[in-house]
Amino acid sequence: MKNIVIFASGAGSNAAAIIRHFNDGSLARVNAIFCNNPKAGVLGIAEEAGISAEVFSREELRSGKVLEKLQDYQPDLIVLAGFLWMMPHDIINAYNGKIINIHPALLPKFGGKGMYGMNVHKAVVDQGETESGITIHYVDEHYDSGDIIAQFKVPVGPDDTCDTVSAKVRQLEHKHFPSVIEKLLS
Ligand code: GRF
Repeated sequence: MKNIVIFASGAGSNAAAIIRHFNDGSLARVNAIFCNNPKAGVLGIAEEAGISAEVFSREELRSGKVLEKLQDYQPDLIVLAGFLWMMPHDIINAYNGKIINIHPALLPKFGGKGMYGMNVHKAVVDQGETESGITIHYVDEHYDSGDIIAQFKVPVGPDDTCDTVSAKVRQLEHKHFPSVIEKLLS
């Protein structure tokens, strides 16, 4: 049984999709959700699913406290699903090649600092892109720059708005992220 630890900062719809996907408990399970925002919706998802939730501050992330806690859960894979802070070097070094992230655009375009949530979809629409999508990639010391694992695309038409693009991309995330994780753990 492989252990998945999720880091999230927001609503947690991706975390919910991943938890559902591994619910049959054969290959892997989500055994903890780490969160930097005590008000995040993902904490409600963890509670409903009976999954341990670890809320932490910037200082605890920086000081190595989060790494210590993380080791208790013996993660085989660390999944960033809407986690908005940089992962510190100590965690990246301790779990090199075992940390992945999902970005709601086709990297390397529309990535980097400040490119998250609706900012991404707004930039895609404003620049008249004809497609968008998701990128699942390994995490390194920079925002959105690790090796790409998988990308999935959706068309963007002239009538699309940042809201309609966001909805299409969100659907892609929930459809593909869990199965990409499953493949990585198989
Ligand atoms: C998703 O758009 C994901 O691509 C990005 O952050 C968002 C997380 O959404 N990294 P949710 O909290 O999983 O609903």
